[in-house]
Amino acid sequence: ALISMRQLLDHAAEFGYGVPAFNVNNLEQTRAIMEAADATNSPVIMQASAGARKYAGAPFLRHMIEAAIEEFPHIPVVMHQDHGVSPGVCQRSIQLGFSSVMMDGSLGEDGKTPMDFDYNTRVTRQVVEMAHSCGVSVEGELGCLGSLETGQAGEEDGSGAEGTLSHEQMLTDPEEAAEFVKATGVDALAIACGTSHGAYKFSRPPTGDILAIDRIREINARIPDTHLVMHGSSSVPQEWLEIINQYGGEIPETYGVPVAQIQEGIRYGVRKINIDTDLRLASTGAVRRFLAQNPSEFDPRKFLTATIVAMKDICIARYEAFGSAGQA
Ligand code: G3H
Ligand code: 13P
Ligand code: NA
Ligand code: ZN
Repeated sequence: ALISMRQLLDHAAEFGYGVPAFNVNNLEQTRAIMEAADATNSPVIMQASAGARKYAGAPFLRHMIEAAIEEFPHIPVVMHQDHGVSPGVCQRSIQLGFSSVMMDGSLGEDGKTPMDFDYNTRVTRQVVEMAHSCGVSVEGELGCLGSLETGQAGEEDGSGAEGTLSHEQMLTDPEEAAEFVKATGVDALAIACGTSHGAYKFSRPPTGDILAIDRIREINARIPDTHLVMHGSSSVPQEWLEIINQYGGEIPETYGVPVAQIQEGIRYGVRKINIDTDLRLASTGAVRRFLAQNPSEFDPRKFLTATIVAMKDICIARYEAFGSAGQA
């Protein structure tokens, strides 16, 4: 059944678990996410970016998520728009039937220019008014996502600020968070706490506290009724990097956010955990390995099935690690 983000995250807060929010672009990701949720009895957040709409086309994307809901009627599903760059984008997603939208006013309409607090508050407030009148939830974002190790926002083509960021820019201010939530009425708030988008988060194996856990705790204490969201939460599985590189890929040494650190974040109030890169890596590794090992195969269903199996394993692991397994 389709549910709103507010409904799901209120439940997650009550029972102290986190929900992975996986990005969807195609049938294989959709199947992997749903089959894993079915296997673990977990609620689901499926999120679609502007890039996903461009790739699949808005009608295909919408019907794919609706097909997932139809095939798995016992699984609660949030249909969320990831990183909306303007109220117009959010409005179109609401019209398409999404039950949740993200207005990312931390960046401008180009998805990379950092914007000031007043702009962010104004556009986000506008989306909340529109969305709440339709029963749709809203996620806002405050602060600039950036790796505390590298000072970089991550993806060039994803949503991320350009250039090197200062330590303070990369941490959401608890005081500002309280003000932002009061002024906008968002249901969920994406915070900057040391993660960044994409595969290149950390250049060395992360040890100890790679995230600003204290900051997460401080923000949560100031906005107890607003659910915290952690973007850039891929763990960048080393075993998939090895497979990719073993079968012809060339990905340099890189590290993601350890699952144990995410679990620590959940303990202090993180409820929605955005993951895209991990499924991309598993998918690519599975295709490279399958085609290398089966050079005479040419039925795409064969190598695409390998991607579903690979992605499903990761989804199951995250549902279990974040505690959403058993909560559907
Ligand atoms: O935050 C970005 C997500 O990973 C989606 O990426 O814009 O390439 O679809 P995308
Ligand atoms: P990753 O690149 O770490 O998977 O993050 C995805 C994300 O935050 C989507 O909004
Ligand atoms: Na989002
Ligand atoms: Zn994101």
